[in-house]
Amino acid sequence: MRVLSGIQPTGNLHLGNYLGAIRNWVRMQDEVAAKGGQSLYFLADLHSLSDHMTREARRDALTDMAAALVACGIDSTKSVLFNQARVPAHAELCWLLNGTARMGWLNRMTQWKDKAGKNRDGASVALFDYPVLQAADVLLYQTTHVPVGDDQKQHLELARDIAVKFNADTGREVFTLPEPTIPPAAARIMSLRDGQAKMSKSDPSDMSRINLTDDADTIAQKVRKAKTDPEPLPSEVAGLEGRAEAKNLVTIMAALDDRSADAVLAEYGGSQFGPFKAALAERLVVELSPIRERYLG
Ligand code: TYM
Repeated sequence: MRVLSGIQPTGNLHLGNYLGAIRNWVRMQDEVAAKGGQSLYFLADLHSLSDHMTREARRDALTDMAAALVACGIDSTKSVLFNQARVPAHAELCWLLNGTARMGWLNRMTQWKDKAGKNRDGASVALFDYPVLQAADVLLYQTTHVPVGDDQKQHLELARDIAVKFNADTGREVFTLPEPTIPPAAARIMSLRDGQAKMSKSDPSDMSRINLTDDADTIAQKVRKAKTDPEPLPSEVAGLEGRAEAKNLVTIMAALDDRSADAVLAEYGGSQFGPFKAALAERLVVELSPIRERYLG
């Protein structure tokens, strides 16, 4: 068993990164070691070159992200934590895999379509080739499991397609096919301001996300102001249909408690959002304040 995953060192870690990926990385460390496997986690600094940043900002973002991962519980006695750019083989394998990946495959990537928008001719080649570098990250180490949020699923399917074609072209089982490990409960945490948009570092509104560095008052304020609707909470998950913002808050509560959304609604169904939001903010502070303290310390 070899587990590997990465994160772009840009901006703060937010609740989506934490519940969708990092918490799983931390949890998997012991399990993997017990099975005699290896865990590898890295800062995807080569990937972040697809956007311009000054040298100083890039260096600060790297050290901040490394500190945040350690604060979350990534333990260098159990996992290897490294910078992608320090291992030239990532870029080298990317170039080799560029001979296998097809333009049509990359053109179908939703992240490419979203980020390039209508200005494809003005987008960087690195943004287009981004998923091939990601495939190289994974295939380089014969990775078996890749813990990620749902938004990375398509990139991992592409990594598998590249591995299958490379193995077929060469007539040898050169690469292991990696499996994504996506948490069922928190695969996609949404923005607090818009239940249709994913919680993201690049959202210009800081009110849209909970950062792992937010203090208790900021968390309480963001949750209080989170967009909801006028109806009380339903008693069953089916009642969240068409209520994206309500569903997101229930999902967050369920993920924090490691219980189902139905169990959360069995407790809060029929209640207005006021008391539910107060309970959610309190639960978030319990989860995140030790991380924040370790990070700032
Ligand atoms: P990045 O830096 O955007 O995100 C890091 C991890 O956080 C997850 N995530 C979320 N999960 C649930 N809800 C959300 N709102 C949310 N936002 C982010 C992501 O799914 C991811 O697991 N391309 C990758 C980095 C990468 C990588 C790799 C990952 C580079 N090479 C190889 C795995 C394997 C990225 O930009 O993640």
